Amino acid sequence: MSYLGLDLGTSGLRALLVADDGTPIGATERHYEVSHPHSGWSEQNPADWIVALEGVMDELRQRHSEFADVSGIGVAGHMHGATLLDASGTVLRPCILWNDTRAHHEASVLDAAPDVRALSGNIVFPGFTAPKLEWVRQNEPEIYDQVAKVLLPAAYLNFFLTGQYVADMSDSAGTSWLDLGARNWSERLLAAGSMRRDQMPELVEGSASAGMLKDELAARWGFSGAVTIAGGAGDNAAAACGIGAMSEGQGFVSLGTSGVLLAARDGYQPDPASAVHTFCHAVPERWYQMGVMLSATDSLNWLSRITGQSPADLTNDLGDSLRPPSEVRFLPYLSGERTPHNDAGARGSFTGLSAGTTRADMTQAVIEGVSFGLRDSLEALRGTGAQFESLFIIGGGGASAYWRKLLATVLGLPLHLPAGGEFGAALGAARLAIAATQGTPIEEIMTPPSIAEVIEPDAALQPAFDLAYQEFRSAFPAIRAVT
Ligand code: XUL
Repeated sequence: MSYLGLDLGTSGLRALLVADDGTPIGATERHYEVSHPHSGWSEQNPADWIVALEGVMDELRQRHSEFADVSGIGVAGHMHGATLLDASGTVLRPCILWNDTRAHHEASVLDAAPDVRALSGNIVFPGFTAPKLEWVRQNEPEIYDQVAKVLLPAAYLNFFLTGQYVADMSDSAGTSWLDLGARNWSERLLAAGSMRRDQMPELVEGSASAGMLKDELAARWGFSGAVTIAGGAGDNAAAACGIGAMSEGQGFVSLGTSGVLLAARDGYQPDPASAVHTFCHAVPERWYQMGVMLSATDSLNWLSRITGQSPADLTNDLGDSLRPPSEVRFLPYLSGERTPHNDAGARGSFTGLSAGTTRADMTQAVIEGVSFGLRDSLEALRGTGAQFESLFIIGGGGASAYWRKLLATVLGLPLHLPAGGEFGAALGAARLAIAATQGTPIEEIMTPPSIAEVIEPDAALQPAFDLAYQEFRSAFPAIRAVT
């Protein structure tokens, strides 16, 4: 038997085919666009996800004979997105994504409502799902009136695959409608957001079954037997499953479109007074915490677009040895920021430019700014009692050896680079598929990967980076957008 993990990311969909012990067999990706119709807005067309899905399935089917034996599929997705469906299951408008901050006013109203933080375990951030529905209610009433179901992106793929409305706990935790301690929809939170329970999908644990693959899809993709669809997960919980971060002391730092520093926690210990996120894990009776920055590799991708150089060429320009902190300072708030500032109106800036500033200086400043932003998340997590001796490093930005060394030095922690290439959300989703199909115990399957390299902080440069981090901290508030 084989299994599939699907990672519906912000920039593309990755599919990973694994054997029944979780060993990778093959993987492929398809990319799609994010549209930014206004400053602070970020949307995607769910039809593009389906085109990407068809593309990866066709390719894996052609390339690997093991594809026919797929007996379980798990989906991980970028979190918080509002996919709105009418009573016939038709998508009503583009999905409003996690890094869309248009609903900042609605978020602050909901955040101040009685019991909301206590039940949802978090600040109501503008990128969470509940304030988006409030925004739609006030600005697109003709659409709001037709909303029969609200699905997160992963749950939308579950719906496409099974025909049923089912979501997992880890992703649903990011809506502000879930009672996180009870792991159930909260009537109180739904009412605060003018929503009804019948508009919500059914809830399952990520490692449980969400249903079976529709016959027509099983026939189209040539599967030989029945295929179980797992509950799945939000992408960060799935990545934690992929690197085996299940208990206290285990975590990762992710350099993806968003920047995430995640700590698995023993028990439910929310800290809604801080901008630390506390969410259900993708397996029963576990929770995790994380700090989230909205523009990590997104900041480098932005520099890449305006310079016409690929992100890899930009970071290669920096050479092999870590430089002292740049005199140029970049604030990475291109889409506002969550942890630690919760400020949708914050915007990015370069300061300290001189006539001699080069492109490489600006690249250095950008990746330093993102690394300092992740140090903010580390400090915020330490404030909730999380302790770290090391972290796994995952995500596309970690492909740069320079950035890995810089990040280890800025965080003051050894970073573990997983071996073998396949880890993170797609592997976590495949592991959830194995658990949902075979009933494999979680501790047997969600294990840490072997380590290809340990990146130690540069002890000589660490004091200079500590100082530069303090300067970065005091540079906030940044330039603000008019909101
Ligand atoms: C987490 C968050 C992002 C997205 C995108 O709260 O918004 O990390 O999941 O990957």
